[in-house]
Amino acid sequence: MTADRRAEELLGRMTLKEKIGQLSQAGSTMTCTLPGFEADIETWVSEMLQGKLPKEELDRRLAMCKENLREDEIAAGELGNFVNLYEDEKIAAVQEVAVHKSRLGIPLFIGVDVIRGYRTMFPTPLALSCSWDMECVRIMAATAKREAYDGGVNWTFGPMLDIARDGRWGRIVESPGEDTYLACRIAKVQVEEFQREEEDGCRLMASAKHFIAYGAVSGGQDYNTVDLSQRQLFEVYLPPFRAAIEAGAGAVMSAFHDLNGVPCTMNRWLLTDILRKQMGFRGFVVSDAEAVKQCVTHGCAADEREAARLSLEAGGDMDMSSLDYAKYLEQLVQAGELEEAVIDEAARRILTKKFEFGLFDREYTYGRLRDGQPMLSEEHRRRSLEVGKRCAVLLKNDGILPIRSEVKKILIVGALAEDKQALLGPWAFTGSAEPVATIVGGMKKYAEEGTEVRYVRGFGADADCSGFEEACEAAGWADIVIAVAGEKEYMSGEAASRANLHLAGCQERFLDGLVRMHVPTVVVLINGRPLAVGCLQENPGIGAILEGWHLGTECGNAIAEILYGHYNPSGKLTVTFANEGGQEPMYYNHPNTGKPGSDFKFTSKYQDVPVRPLYPFGYGLSYTTFSYGEFLVEKERITREETLKCSVKVRNAGSCAGEETVQLYIRDVVASCARPVKELKRFEKILLQPGEEQEVRFELPAEEMGFYDCCCKYVVEPGEFRLYAGTDSENVLERTFYIV
Ligand code: NOJ
Repeated sequence: MTADRRAEELLGRMTLKEKIGQLSQAGSTMTCTLPGFEADIETWVSEMLQGKLPKEELDRRLAMCKENLREDEIAAGELGNFVNLYEDEKIAAVQEVAVHKSRLGIPLFIGVDVIRGYRTMFPTPLALSCSWDMECVRIMAATAKREAYDGGVNWTFGPMLDIARDGRWGRIVESPGEDTYLACRIAKVQVEEFQREEEDGCRLMASAKHFIAYGAVSGGQDYNTVDLSQRQLFEVYLPPFRAAIEAGAGAVMSAFHDLNGVPCTMNRWLLTDILRKQMGFRGFVVSDAEAVKQCVTHGCAADEREAARLSLEAGGDMDMSSLDYAKYLEQLVQAGELEEAVIDEAARRILTKKFEFGLFDREYTYGRLRDGQPMLSEEHRRRSLEVGKRCAVLLKNDGILPIRSEVKKILIVGALAEDKQALLGPWAFTGSAEPVATIVGGMKKYAEEGTEVRYVRGFGADADCSGFEEACEAAGWADIVIAVAGEKEYMSGEAASRANLHLAGCQERFLDGLVRMHVPTVVVLINGRPLAVGCLQENPGIGAILEGWHLGTECGNAIAEILYGHYNPSGKLTVTFANEGGQEPMYYNHPNTGKPGSDFKFTSKYQDVPVRPLYPFGYGLSYTTFSYGEFLVEKERITREETLKCSVKVRNAGSCAGEETVQLYIRDVVASCARPVKELKRFEKILLQPGEEQEVRFELPAEEMGFYDCCCKYVVEPGEFRLYAGTDSENVLERTFYIV
């Protein structure tokens, strides 16, 4: 029997309460049992996430609390889904109640943020996108899927597909970057791999989030309002979701904010007209955490009862964490204010996915699951290392890197070099810092015999630079200094927007002082967002800058392999680095304006910073150099039904093997709406041996060169186009072609 039929049959046997239970998702609650110890878990978690309370202290306090896993609600059939439960035994316990102790035995959806690993953590999603390597994306999803599934998770709140153009927004770290085409590619691979069923039934249902345009929050301030044209919505923000839906994503998570005045959670136009009717989505919509009740705070529902009705009627099938559906839907039906058919429809969608994703076909026995597949296995760590190496981006290099074998005394400075939690990075709740490879550890592990690696703390990513003298003294000993600067893990991620994009605290001053020791210095950045690090770029005392992001469990080893030259860096930026936070949102594919920024006074620019970004989209250096040669367009005039075919020759002009991401952009020169100065349309990552040349061929149907016109209709307009091929969005070769 098909999943739809099985769902229908089950629905016919359910009470109203049981149906509403399927529409509800909640996490466990905690109560502290120690007398005299006031438990305020929300405050503790908030303090931990702001770096005010050490994670270990939070864990210690939580261990003293009693957790309520809501077994009674589950047994009564009043709760059908759990959120963010990730200890195997607890998942097994709640699933046991649902399957064996509730009347209908419906298994729970266990939804968790598996966005970059489960126990073995991979680079942050932003870092992962910098690999421009879909095999890396696939490996991350496959590994995360295996570990999460073996632990009992069956649903991931990922991929996160918010186009992010503003470095101030903390959640840029979770995003696939600023480009829509790249995000579409990533969306497809992640959804397919998370949902692909392995022989033993291993798979996760994926959910595309956050619907929609969360990355466009005003001023980059998290949870803020979004006022956006429909053209932008269709052209920039919707396509990655369309790609996820086409790949079969089972769920979509609506976003916290209001879009043009209406909270996404209760936005019927968005959740029903656009998502279902226009985009053909056939899964279910889950709200973001507590977003149903936040409709009241938005000022768009009088109370939680109304918020529940408006959200459900808009097309929001499942309420995450508010428990407003559980509290009010039955009352609303009884009062004649809500049709039971709306509840039926939502329950049908959810149950269909439970059948489709094999929840009813799995044996729920804890202990059996992980046979032969240990979490954090050597193999999984190896995968994280291989992927991690491909995500770091070399931003500057005067030749100091890779570290030469004559260098025998290496000094590492900066607390982040040893800070496992920071190297692991944000959005890693299911992982643990304990197994993280530090930079100090990695540099020692890969050091050649006879090379000594020393570490002094010197400074942190905060205001503590008390170790300046000690660091300078130690630098006097060293042949090379590796200074590790950037952000702690809690400085990016949810609710972690920053107005100032400089290195926080005293880091800039510290580094400036340190290079006055005249010891060759490399800066490794550990951070979640594009930072305003122009002072490092301009400082001649800093020989190299490696953007190391937060690479996860193998972070320190990945960085060490790059610094020693065991791996030739190949990552390229997927977000523009602005010179100053005040330039944000800064992104490469903006329209030209009537007065494009230049040296001339009356042009679009800020007078106190360069017009060009610090580092453009697509930028990243290698230990070798690539030269771009013959760039050919097969046919310069194509019809709207035809495909543009072009090729470019790329040669490794240096002396070591290296990978290059060849990028192809277009520009529609004259159109009825102002078009971006460049739009990424294709890319290919290739490996070239020294002296080797490869012809990279691209095919681009004219159909993909259109845009949403002023009436929001997709059109491909005939006329002149530019075609660019190059190593980043600025360094390109140029050709002209026409659509006729
Ligand atoms: C809130 C976040 O916005 C969302 O991305 C996440 O999936 C949920 N919390 C559950 O953790």
